[in-house]
Order: sequence, then structure tokens, then C-alpha cells
Amino acid sequence: MPVLKFPENFLWGTATSAYQIEGGNVYSDWEDYYPAGIACDHYHKYQEDFDWIVKLNQNAYRFSIEWARIEKEQGKFDQKEIEHYRKILLSLKKRNIKAMLTLFHFTLPKWFQEKGGFTKQENIFYFKRFANRIFDEYKNLVDFWVIINEPQVYAAQGYLLRIWPPKKRNPILYLKVLRNLILAHKIIYKGFHQKQSQVRIGIAKNNQFFEPYNPRSNFDKLAVKIASRWQNHYFLNKIKKHLDFIGLNYYFHNKIKFPFFIKNDNKIVSDVGWEVYPKGIYFTLKDLKQYNLPIYITENGVADKDDRLREKFIKDHLYWIWKAIQEKVDVRGYFYWSLLDNFEWEKGFKPRFGLIEVDYKTLERKPRKSAFYYAQICKTNHLAT
Ligand code: BGC
Repeated sequence: MPVLKFPENFLWGTATSAYQIEGGNVYSDWEDYYPAGIACDHYHKYQEDFDWIVKLNQNAYRFSIEWARIEKEQGKFDQKEIEHYRKILLSLKKRNIKAMLTLFHFTLPKWFQEKGGFTKQENIFYFKRFANRIFDEYKNLVDFWVIINEPQVYAAQGYLLRIWPPKKRNPILYLKVLRNLILAHKIIYKGFHQKQSQVRIGIAKNNQFFEPYNPRSNFDKLAVKIASRWQNHYFLNKIKKHLDFIGLNYYFHNKIKFPFFIKNDNKIVSDVGWEVYPKGIYFTLKDLKQYNLPIYITENGVADKDDRLREKFIKDHLYWIWKAIQEKVDVRGYFYWSLLDNFEWEKGFKPRFGLIEVDYKTLERKPRKSAFYYAQICKTNHLAT
């Protein structure tokens, strides 16, 4: 059986976000639209969850901090909650797990949203104040910082498609949000670097692999070029001088028929109907090589309640990541989405992305078979094909 080795010190982990797993985030803007209730009650069960990370041989963990918990009211920082996240970080350190912390993963304090959220440039002040406070508190406990998760997804869902809070359909606001997220990223990046020069800061960027529906059609090729420029490169180009690494969230492959119709073969689909197309991660990584930065796969996963696809999903994606590494793409880690089943945004609790199954009645955790498969890879740092 050929064995594919990964680089030394490769990070093997999983990813989560606060609102999706913690429970009790009643001060967040999402609460009024899609309440997550107690979710996985990770807020109280984090020790147990981190024990699973260790048992499953992972050496890294990506998670987020809920701003609305820490700053329930504008300007009032809650020391008790700051200590809670300190305990989380210390628990990871104690277990020798590298911590990647995201500052903004789709949810915001209600008061910030009421002020216009990221549509207003002057509101960046509040996000920066929160970010700086978090940095000052935890700078010695965090290994990697992600300022923003999937900015373009956030802006589109909230300001064009009316799906996520604040459920608007307004292209002007959409563009303002993007512009302000770019500004916020740069300002915070510079501030952190002034405080600590060797700090490592990135973004979690959702990039897709686009292909022409008809490879011989110049129109389809043009549509692919435009889609890729906008979706994959617009934001990155704006912040590329303010990045120490790129985090890639890879989920989608889309065949595009001119002008912008998506026509996928959909041979294998997950429980939420998303096509599984592992080779796309290879092309996406090759395409990111142009930035000349270290890359971490900050998310990649599949909704698969019965665990019928997950093992092969992981294996095939890792194969293509390995292949990109052989071709000199500097990939340094992989975070499977997600450690646990969790609250999948507007879709609620139905989609099951977890390596670990959660029984939402008893809150009992039970690793799926694929979790042990992944654990073997994490342990050996290689993939047996
Ligand atoms: C998001 C996660 C989400 C996952 C699966 C990513 O776009 O960052 O929060 O759960 O996709 O949909």
C-alpha cells in the first residue's frame, strides 16, 4: 500500500465556531432570527470535547470567540466571559493542541448590528476595540489568528440573499460591508503586528473551483474567469499584503454555463445536496500558490449523517492536498469541518458535519467510524492509499 507522507509539523485538526456549538448565545444577532438554544452545550462541555480531540490524535483546533458574550452591551466587557475563553485556551495548551482563533465567524452582538454593523465605516472602531482587547488578553495562548471567516459569504447571505441576519437585499450595502471588512482586516492586522511582530494572522476564505460547462466555449470560459476573479480573488487581492497565511475553506466545485448558470454533474452529493468533488481542492490550492503564502485548510467537510461518504471524502481530499504539496504548494495544515455535529445556520441542526455525532436530547457525544479513520492519519502523518 503506497504511503503518502505529509510535511513534518503538519497540523491535523478540526474546526468549529462559537454560535454553532456553545449554546446560550442570547446576546448575538442570530438569536432573533435563528436561535441555536443550547446547541451542543460546548460552553459547559468543552473539556470533554477537547479530550476527544486528544483521543482522536489531533494536534490543532480552530474555533471562534463570541463577541456578543464578551461585550453584551456596548463598551462593557464581561470579565467572567473573558476568563471563560482563557480557560478554553489554557485547556488546549494543557493538552498540547495548537489554537487557531477566529474573531468574527458570522455572528455579531445585537447592539453592533443595531448600529448598522459592518455597513458603516465608523463601526469598525468597535470591532477593532474588541479585537485588541482579545489580543491583549490571549496573545500568549493563541498560535494563529483568523480575523474574519468567509467575508464574501457573510456579505452575500446577509445583504443580497436575505438569508442571514440582517436579511437585506441591497447591493450598495453589500459592497459597503465588503469594503469595511477589508478595512477592518487591514487595521487589525497592522495593530496586532505592532503589538507582537511574530504573530501569525490570516483569513478563512471560501474559494470554489469553477470550470466551464463546455470547455470549448469561450463564453463559458469567460464566465469562469469572472466568477473566479470575484469569488476567489477579489478580497484576497485587497488584503494580500496584510496576511501571514491564507486559510482555505473548500466546499464547492461549480461548472458554469454562460452567463452564470451553475450546471453540476452532482454524481455524489452530501445530505445537503452539495456535490462532493475532491479534485477541486487541488486546483484551488494551485490557484492560491500565486500569493506565495503558507496555506492552511481551515475548513473542509461533508454533511453525512450516516457516515457513508466521510471516510472517502477525507481520504480523497487529502490525496489531492498531498498532490498539491508535491507540486510546491505550501500547505501546512488541515482542519476538518467539524469536530462535532452542530447548528448549521439557517438549516438548523439537521445537517451533520461532525466527526463526532451529537445526540441533541442527551448531549451525548459519539465518534463516528470516520473519526477513527481520520485519527489514524493524524497519528501517522501519512495517508495510506
Ligand atoms: C462555514 C461554517 C459552516 C460550514 C458548512 C462554512 O462556510 O464557515 O460555519 O458550518 O461552511 O456549511
